[in-house]
Amino acid sequence: MDKILIRGGKPLKGCVHVRGAKNAALPLMAATILAEKPCVLHNVPCLHDIFSMDKLLSHMGMKIDFTGRCMTLDPSALSNPEAPYDQVRKMRASFFVLGALLARHRRARVSLPGGCAIGARPVDIHLKGLEAMGAEIRIEDGYVVAEGALHGANFTQDFPSVGATENLLMAACLADGVTRLHNAAREPEIEDLARFLNAMGAQISGAGTDLITVVGVDRLGGAEHVVMPDRIEAGTFLAAGVATHGDVTVLNAHADHLPAFLDKLREAGAVVETKGDSIRAAARDGIDAVEVTTRPFPGFATDLQAQMMALLTCARGVSLIKETVFENRFMQAAELIRMGADITLEGNTAIVRGVERLSGAPVMASDLRASAALVIAGLMADKGATAISRVYHIDRGYERIEERLAALGADIERVRE
Ligand code: UD1
Repeated sequence: MDKILIRGGKPLKGCVHVRGAKNAALPLMAATILAEKPCVLHNVPCLHDIFSMDKLLSHMGMKIDFTGRCMTLDPSALSNPEAPYDQVRKMRASFFVLGALLARHRRARVSLPGGCAIGARPVDIHLKGLEAMGAEIRIEDGYVVAEGALHGANFTQDFPSVGATENLLMAACLADGVTRLHNAAREPEIEDLARFLNAMGAQISGAGTDLITVVGVDRLGGAEHVVMPDRIEAGTFLAAGVATHGDVTVLNAHADHLPAFLDKLREAGAVVETKGDSIRAAARDGIDAVEVTTRPFPGFATDLQAQMMALLTCARGVSLIKETVFENRFMQAAELIRMGADITLEGNTAIVRGVERLSGAPVMASDLRASAALVIAGLMADKGATAISRVYHIDRGYERIEERLAALGADIERVRE
């Protein structure tokens, strides 16, 4: 297993290109199950989660060629509409194949995701929505078995779950009649998925708002699509730049994908400038404490909460971070405390009292975004070195993060244990 070694205290400076979004690419790959012809995705990031989805779809009979950042997916021989436990256990997004499999093959057998490090993460909304569209669903040996022809439905999500909206959107494309998804998630990744599905011949309107309307069609063809930029990766590099009192510009990033995050950086005293598809964030003179509450888009993204916590450990004053999207998503806190941070957890709120400095320590990554927070803290720590183990969590969502941070001036390297 690899470790990442960081000797912090150096301000990050320069430009970094943002890759394609993992959270867009995964449902886009799943959506090709609906097609009758090959599809091509460009700007696909080279990440472990993408390889996992590749493996899962290949297991079902999808023919996939992934060369450079271009992925061709040919669903014409897909014959095994089943997602086994071993795959879904490793990556919850595997569950996002359910709606497409059911719509295209009228039958799907997909393992329940099971427990997850960042809260219970049930799938009740996915299942209720598919049932409203006429699916017969039963749970059998830990698997969701869904069968039946789908029809259009009026469905209101109890919560704007991103994955449920994506699953239901895909299912509705081939359903008989019109589907209206109320209280749908509004994340930019949903819009990206809808753009791709419409290019395949679907009739979707309202993606990006809380009411999505889908007029079912008989069949979908192939399509070519460029995966949107990864807004969480962009936010992570910007947070790292400000946290190290540096000046970082992310290229190929859309400011309107990160409205609440950029507002918080400004409120914390950073200079934030947006121009075309680049965003620059620089520290002015120190960081001020802020209050952050995570919410579905366009609110502050839960996937940037841990990175923001790392940034705020050395702010002037007391910051409050409230996590409302997931339960139990403060796993970075204990490790940050070991590096000298002053953090108290009270239910879903973290109280972060700014300290003078962090010091390096051996720490352990526990999930993808928590590990990004540890990288930022390691870059901030101007005393001692930080060794982050269980780096595979980082590799799920960031492509060669150490090389890209080194290019910005960080003293960081990957070592084999
Ligand atoms: C997606 C993202 C993840 C991000 C999250 C929230 C992908 C691959 N992953 O995950 O990075 O952190 O959105 O922005 O895109 N819930 C239910 N019942 C359900 C579904 C969800 O109660 O049927 C709850 C979850 O437990 C959680 C909350 O809703 O507390 C948000 O989950 P959801 O939006 O579904 O997240 P994912 O789609 O899994």
